[in-house]
Amino acid sequence: MSRPELIAPPEIYYGDTEAQKYTANSRIQQIQADMTYRALELLNLPPDEPSFILDIGCGSGLSGEILDEQGHIWVGVDIAPSMLEVALEREVEGDLFLQDIGQGFGFRPGSFDGAISISVIQWLLNAETSHPTSSPPHRLTRFFTTLHSALKNPSRAVLQFYPSSDDQIQLITSIAQKAGFGGGIVVDYPNSKKAKKVFLCLFVGSGGAQHVPQGLDGEVPEGAGDSVKFEKRREREKRRKENGAKRKGVKDKDWILKKKELYRRRGKEHVPNDSLYTGRKRRPAF
Ligand SMILES: C[S@@+](CC[C@H](N)C(=O)[O-])C[C@H]1O[C@@H](n2cnc3c(N)ncnc32)[C@H](O)[C@@H]1O
Repeated sequence: MSRPELIAPPEIYYGDTEAQKYTANSRIQQIQADMTYRALELLNLPPDEPSFILDIGCGSGLSGEILDEQGHIWVGVDIAPSMLEVALEREVEGDLFLQDIGQGFGFRPGSFDGAISISVIQWLLNAETSHPTSSPPHRLTRFFTTLHSALKNPSRAVLQFYPSSDDQIQLITSIAQKAGFGGGIVVDYPNSKKAKKVFLCLFVGSGGAQHVPQGLDGEVPEGAGDSVKFEKRREREKRRKENGAKRKGVKDKDWILKKKELYRRRGKEHVPNDSLYTGRKRRPAF
């Protein structure tokens, strides 16, 4: 099967139908969740305190949901309006921006404690047009230089992606280094065709004192290893369900008012008027 990034530009590929299909697929949900947990592990944030995280290519919020679950505050950017629409429908907690990351970010310098990106940056390797400033190296340079500036010093960015060759890995890491990042590539389960995952683990600052973490080893011992792995997954699913239930449970007056205000600020149409339940007078109907 052809890679999605070779089929159409992302905002076309992830149209209404694909955005819904992608988000509802339980296998995709599980894979994206697992990779987000691993990205968070590699991000090495201070324990037991919320961090302010940028989710690059947040899509419909499958990765952001894990950030919520882990108690972080996040901002998501994505180029596909349909994916962001699904994220809004799913009432993710992050603030969402419609943006092409190949154009670079405009965030205030040092805004974020860290950044993650799950299954996104391979899209930057495909030229959008034949214009020279749309070439992959130009887009990657804008992306990495503005990302570097948006992050605190010291901090990390962890970007899982699907390279199709070693040359692509080389191109991406060399441009990231030129933009000022330290760090390098972490490969999990390098010998497994199915489980192999590539993470670009980037560091801002610390004078090169940060070491690139080790990838996970593919040899999971039979029996004990598997049961540990599945036990962990079961725990995670239980936690996610509990948190989901909690999240649903917090839909009180303040929560509803906050969400409605957010939607109005984002220009969303048909936001219901505040009712007696939410404690404000209805707006006059014109
Ligand atoms: C496979 S989805 C992953 C979404 C999310 N991170 C997750 O884990 O479910 C890839 C996402 O990258 C986004 N994307 C691709 N190219 C982009 C670009 N140039 N700027 C912003 N987002 C982009 C797509 O729109 C899509 O939502």
